[in-house]
Amino acid sequence: MQFASQLVERLRVAERVTVLTGAGVSAESGIPTFRDAQTGLWARYDPTELATPQAFVRNPRLVWDWYAYRRDVIEQAEPNPAHYALVDMEQHYANFTLITQNVDGLHWRAGSRNLFELHGNISRIRCFECAAPVTGWDDDGELPPRCPHCGGLGRPDVVWFGEGLPAPALREAERATERADVFLSIGTSAMVQPAASLPLRARRAGAYVIEINPEETSLAVIADEWLRGPAGVILPELFRQAGGERQSPEEG
Ligand code: APR
Repeated sequence: MQFASQLVERLRVAERVTVLTGAGVSAESGIPTFRDAQTGLWARYDPTELATPQAFVRNPRLVWDWYAYRRDVIEQAEPNPAHYALVDMEQHYANFTLITQNVDGLHWRAGSRNLFELHGNISRIRCFECAAPVTGWDDDGELPPRCPHCGGLGRPDVVWFGEGLPAPALREAERATERADVFLSIGTSAMVQPAASLPLRARRAGAYVIEINPEETSLAVIADEWLRGPAGVILPELFRQAGGERQSPEEG
């Protein structure tokens, strides 16, 4: 794989690197992206109509079951070489921030620590009414489980359409975006705000913007480089050519 020399050089000399990831970074772990056709039992449902507070109020059990199914898929999945390359990059750069829209927790499981999960995490449950964490529910009992404090229904601790993002995480993400020398957008269709606007903010603040995605997105017009292909193949090789060392044994 041959990358443009300017691209490799930018990454080689960068000190502050910020990365935004989306569902595409987990595709090679076997987790379907959000806008992929859903399969099996869930094929007739539109995810954008299940991931809303209105859907939960209308039919809490249906929404619960969809997330339970996705939690199962995620629990059986493993991080892939793209996740591990991002762990290695965190070790390598003086200043490295990872911002993800993914709720699957695979970045954390791989070992990324300077991480902002802008859309929450599917493995946590909180009360729909009072937001208290709900833990230790019984999958054979009443579902969704009830909040131990107020009796409200438990919901996944993720950001649904129409809901705001956690303000402190968003603030940190914006700060890291504005001070980046190099900003990578990996595996996101860049359609859901406010995350989708981060690459543009980075560009305006002077960062060199790289996109990794097999498909063309709206970022094509603002990115300095579009690397067309799967993240698990491209990212480890790009990092290696930019002088990075592989630490994670799983990368092979
Ligand atoms: N490597 C890199 N990118 C990939 C790969 C791969 N192996 N496979 C697919 N992609 C790309 C697709 O081309 C697509 O552009 O990943 C992108 C996935 O897009 P979406 O499914 O729209 O996911 P995402 O951008 O993360 O969605 C954003 O929308 O519904 C909300 O909260 C949900 O976090 C989600 C947000």
